[in-house]
Amino acid sequence: MRSTDASRPDNTREGSSLPSRAFRAVGFSTRGLRLLDQRALPGRISYLRPTTAGQVARAIEVLAVRGAPNIGVAAAYGMAVECRRLPDRRLRSGLRSAARTLRKARPTAVNLSWAVDRVERVLSDQGLAPRELRRAVLREARRIETEEVERSKAMARAGSRLLVKNATVLTICNTGALAAPGLGTALGVVFQAKLDRKRPRVYACETRPLLQGARLTMTELLRAGVDATLIVDSAAASVMPECDIVLVGADRVASNGDFANKVGTRMLAGLARELRKPLYVVAPLSSFDPECPDGSAIAIEERDGDEVRFFGRRRTAPRRARVFNPAFDVTPARFVTGFVTDNGIVRQPFSQSIRQVLAR
Ligand code: MRU
Repeated sequence: MRSTDASRPDNTREGSSLPSRAFRAVGFSTRGLRLLDQRALPGRISYLRPTTAGQVARAIEVLAVRGAPNIGVAAAYGMAVECRRLPDRRLRSGLRSAARTLRKARPTAVNLSWAVDRVERVLSDQGLAPRELRRAVLREARRIETEEVERSKAMARAGSRLLVKNATVLTICNTGALAAPGLGTALGVVFQAKLDRKRPRVYACETRPLLQGARLTMTELLRAGVDATLIVDSAAASVMPECDIVLVGADRVASNGDFANKVGTRMLAGLARELRKPLYVVAPLSSFDPECPDGSAIAIEERDGDEVRFFGRRRTAPRRARVFNPAFDVTPARFVTGFVTDNGIVRQPFSQSIRQVLAR
């Protein structure tokens, strides 16, 4: 399912006001689904062309496609991909089974199950003939993508207002267009501030063990012409005093404001509190989980220990070294200054304000 494309990423988006150099990580056309294989970045632009929902689930598991909103969009298109190959007589049962496979790919980002649930809801219309059902599934997947692009623009506009001129931002992981369609989440705010001529500067945590910060965030910031400096995660305490704001994304926000994000976020939050720096979580409402009462109910993905025992292909720990490798951690709501959402900025007390913003 792999295709290598030496040309630049797909920068053409009709009617879009996005920066011309924004990546498009997930795309669906008459030729099918195309996923930018983020494992190859920054070295190579190559694409996966999955033709089954199982292949889409695998691409999500191995982080070829990643970032909460993009995982949701890819999974929604995974249902559309499945529609193309299933015979009429097995269409509904096959789609239900595809939905189960996709939902299991990664546990923490709520966008995944949220998007699959939305597409699966189309199946409850028993009146649809197979051809109509296929169209309706694709329509819903496209709608989810379009909505996410609009959400990202709205968050970027709201977030940019928080940044003073020449603001220095600290961030972790990758939260740009590679993580969320459009401009991204936390990094989208930086891109918008740059468009607003505020000249933001960024310290990007490299984000061990898979280096989303080094490989992806630095690539996106350099392409956008943002003044960016890469740091090892453990240098965060050294640079935080000169930062104005910490901007991070979220994979799942509980209804009390606790949130899960890339492992290391909780440490940044503690530091920010100690140094009295504001910490904003930039997350679309599709990353809020009203069913989740607090952070203790969020499932944290644990990944293979070899991601830590190796640095790239080089072994850096003994084969038998015991490893604990959680992909995310939970930051308590009390460390959060506010959530930048597509429906405005949400502030304390979060239990009340989150309920209100989700009801709007
Ligand atoms: O494991 P990843 O690379 O999918 O982790 C991504 C993050 O932690 C992002 O911060 C998160 O998805 C929110 S921003 C889109």
